[in-house]
Amino acid sequence: MLVVEGLVKRFGGFTAVGNVSFRVDQGEILGLIGPNGSGKSTIFNMLSGTFAPTAGSIRFEGHELSGLAPHKIINRGIGRTFQIPRPFRRLTIFENVALAGYYGQNRHSEAKAQESAERALAIVGLPTDRKALVDGLGAAGLKKLELAKALATGPKLLLADESLGGLDDKEMDQAADMLRRIRDELGITIIWVEHIMGVLMRVVDRVMVLDHGEKISEGLPSQVASDPRVIEVYLGTDAHATQAAAARK
Ligand SMILES: Nc1ncnc2c1ncn2[C@@H]1O[C@H](COP(=O)(O)OP(=O)(O)O)[C@@H](O)[C@H]1O
Ligand SMILES: [Mg+2]
Repeated sequence: MLVVEGLVKRFGGFTAVGNVSFRVDQGEILGLIGPNGSGKSTIFNMLSGTFAPTAGSIRFEGHELSGLAPHKIINRGIGRTFQIPRPFRRLTIFENVALAGYYGQNRHSEAKAQESAERALAIVGLPTDRKALVDGLGAAGLKKLELAKALATGPKLLLADESLGGLDDKEMDQAADMLRRIRDELGITIIWVEHIMGVLMRVVDRVMVLDHGEKISEGLPSQVASDPRVIEVYLGTDAHATQAAAARK
């Protein structure tokens, strides 16, 4: 479905992503992990057209995407969330999601954009009533709103950036289950970025690990969790070591 070859992003003299290649098959959940600053969001920014790659190719369903504007990429069927939710706080939850729907597959129909918003809100478990305000949402609610906005665009491939950030253990489990349901019930292929391993490892089909902009490991969760290069990177902090140990069980 997605074939990425030799992807590079430089900011001035600094290489944020250096020569990364990978593919994602239809129906898969690919986990993309790596420490903070390893280039994960930069890869998403190139896949979604926010940044043009310095080099490399991104082919989605056989068509080259690099160089396309973000709204054209959304219309090809790639939706994304942002690591830091920045909703329009003066619009309702419903309006935020319906607005995202206009940028997706339903841009020519107000009624369809609203239907897609209702469906997306129901899937993530946010209120579908049209008056609910963004201000009432905590960290978990804002993450759900990010997912609902991405879903309302009608993606075939969903790019989920740090869906667990700021959540407690129970909320993390719920978020992981939600991503799995989005794949299982809606048939949406997913690339899921996190800097921690944690619950991601029990939901994804395959994992790819970045460090300093380079791919250092790739494979089944159990293989990656016991890869010495990955353990070395994740042993940097006690929390990471604990997660790596838990993921290996
Ligand atoms: N727009 C930008 N300009 C300059 N440097 C950037 C920009 N975006 C990201 N970077 C740098 O690229 C590196 C990778 O960042 P990022 O992809 O956001 O990492 P993460 O893996 O945490 O998502 C970091 O060192 C970051 O500071
Ligand atoms: Mg990031």
